[in-house]
This record gives sequence, C-alpha cells and structure tokens, in this order.
Amino acid sequence: MRDFNGKVAVITGGAEGIGRAIAERAATAGMKLVLADINAAGLEAALADFASRGVQAVGLKTDVSKAAEVEALAALAFERFGTVHLLVNNAGVGHNRPVWETTQADWDWVMGVNLYGVINGLRAFIPTMLAKGEPGHIVNTASMAGLTSQPGLAIYNASKHAVVTVSEGLHHDLTLRQSKLRVSVLCPAWVKTRIHLSGRNRPAGDDTAPLSTLDPVATKVGLAVMNAVENGIPVEQVANDVFDAIAAERFYILTHPGHKAAIQTRMEDILAERAPSLLRSL
Ligand SMILES: NC(=O)c1ccc[n+]([C@@H]2O[C@H](COP(=O)([O-])OP(=O)(O)OC[C@H]3O[C@@H](n4cnc5c(N)ncnc54)[C@H](O)[C@@H]3O)[C@@H](O)[C@H]2O)c1
Repeated sequence: MRDFNGKVAVITGGAEGIGRAIAERAATAGMKLVLADINAAGLEAALADFASRGVQAVGLKTDVSKAAEVEALAALAFERFGTVHLLVNNAGVGHNRPVWETTQADWDWVMGVNLYGVINGLRAFIPTMLAKGEPGHIVNTASMAGLTSQPGLAIYNASKHAVVTVSEGLHHDLTLRQSKLRVSVLCPAWVKTRIHLSGRNRPAGDDTAPLSTLDPVATKVGLAVMNAVENGIPVEQVANDVFDAIAAERFYILTHPGHKAAIQTRMEDILAERAPSLLRSL
C-alpha cells in the first residue's frame, strides 16, 4: 500500500505512545482512524484532538485481551467506514521480573494483552479484510525482546517472541493464498514512552512487588530498563519507520539498526550450540 489518502486505519493502544504516533502519521497521510485503548479518558482526549483538526476518527474503549471487545471494535470499524486497509495491533504492556518472581496473574495480564491482544485483532479483522479483497496491511507490534532474550523480562520476552512467530506464520499463510494483505512485525528497541509505567493499565490493579523488594540483580535490570526507555528514540521516528515499511512492503521493521548485531549474535549462539551471550541492549 503506497497511497494512504482516504484509507482506513485501525490502531490499538492508540491513545498514547507509539500507537498515538502511528495514528498521527496515518492522519497526516490522509487516513481515517479507528482507535482502541483501555484508557477511556486518554482515548477521548485523542479523538477530540483529531476531531478539532478535521480528521475523521472514531474510537472504542477496548481491552484487547478480551476477544469480544476486539470483535466489537471490528464491528464499529466496518460499520462506520465500510472497510479496513491498515490494522495495527500495537497495544502492549511491559513487565520485568525474573521468571521465578512472576505470578499466574502476571502471566495472564501480560500474555493477555501482548499476545492474545494481537491474536484477537487478527481473528476479528482478517476474515472481513480478506472477503473485501482489497489491498491491505497488518502491523503487529513485537519488540527486540521478540528477537533476543533479555534478562529480567521473562513474560515480556515470551509474549513478544510469540508475536514474531505468529506474524511470520501469518505472512506465509497469506502469501500461499496470493492474498492482497501484507504483514509487518514491528521490533523496536528502546522508545521514549510510558511503557515502564504499564501497571497503570492493569485492570485488577498493579499487584507487582516493587523493584526495591527484589534481589539486587533484578533491581539493577529494572532500573536499566527504565533508564533505557526514558532515553529511547522518539515515537515519531518509529511511526515514520512503520509507514516507510508499509510502503516498501517490508516485513521486519527494525527501528534500531545498531541492535542488529544482537540478533546476529543470538543466531550464531544457536548455530554454534553455545550458551546465550548477554546482549548489549541492557
Ligand atoms: N517503548 C518501548 O521501548 C517499546 C519497545 C519495544 C516494543 N514496544 C511495544 O510498543 C507497543 C506500544 O507501547 P508504548 O511503548 O507506546 O507504551 P505506552 O504505555 O506508552 O502505550 C501503550 C498504550 O496501550 C494501551 N493499552 C495498555 N493495555 C491495553 C489493553 N489491555 N487494551 C487496549 N489498550 C491497552 C495504553 O493505555 C497505552 O495507550 C507495545 O506493544 C510495546 O510492547 C515498546
């Protein structure tokens, strides 16, 4: 898809951070917007802001981990605009703890949003997008944590590796059917957002033990993550990379070229059957 003007974009986690920046970039390209977010006030503010600039935008408070809510989002999108050309499954939450410090509730929350959120989006939108037969694009937000394995991020790593492989499989499934739908998987390293404050989006309340109660290694890793996010690249740069990749039909979107060496090292470790190197991302 090279011509975005007048086309329809659906973006989850669209109220803030990377999702909001993608929505801004889509609006600049003349697209109509369907935004979903669990943060109702943030979503309303974003919609009001777009409306004040004459952008056609609708939204629905959606918890992407709940299939029925994502189906309602799809119903709204197809009802309001008749079709969908760009689906960005972006909503996600961060969590850092070594695996033995995680709870069942942590796994349910993070896998629910980061993995099932993507799956729910694919299941709710793709059948109708395929039936329409129009060219379209799907972007799933994974992470460099989906291509490498960082310490202290057990659930986050698992969720993002799963998003990468679901996206790769989806690419094959669509290509084998000569579909007009294309897929990209977005794998940023550090981006300046509020991802490190994801507990604010935890519906049952953030019952994660504070970093200060963990061992010194976990505390150090947690602080390094926070510091890396706060010094990350701007969201606008990520949004531009996403649109460049859609136009070029590029599958992997690697926003941090300097981190490619970490992917290579991981692959070489696997092929050499040696233990994983501690990579430079942290
Ligand atoms: N910031 C980074 O360094 C970074 C790096 C790699 C990947 N990512 C990924 O980018 C995506 C966006 O994160 P961000 O950095 O913009 O974080 P963010 O916290 O700034 O924004 C996330 C947005 O998703 C929404 N959200 C959270 N839970 C939701 C749910 N259950 N249903 C619907 N919406 C929900 C939030 O309200 C928020 O608007 C995530 O998938 C994240 O894992 C971020």
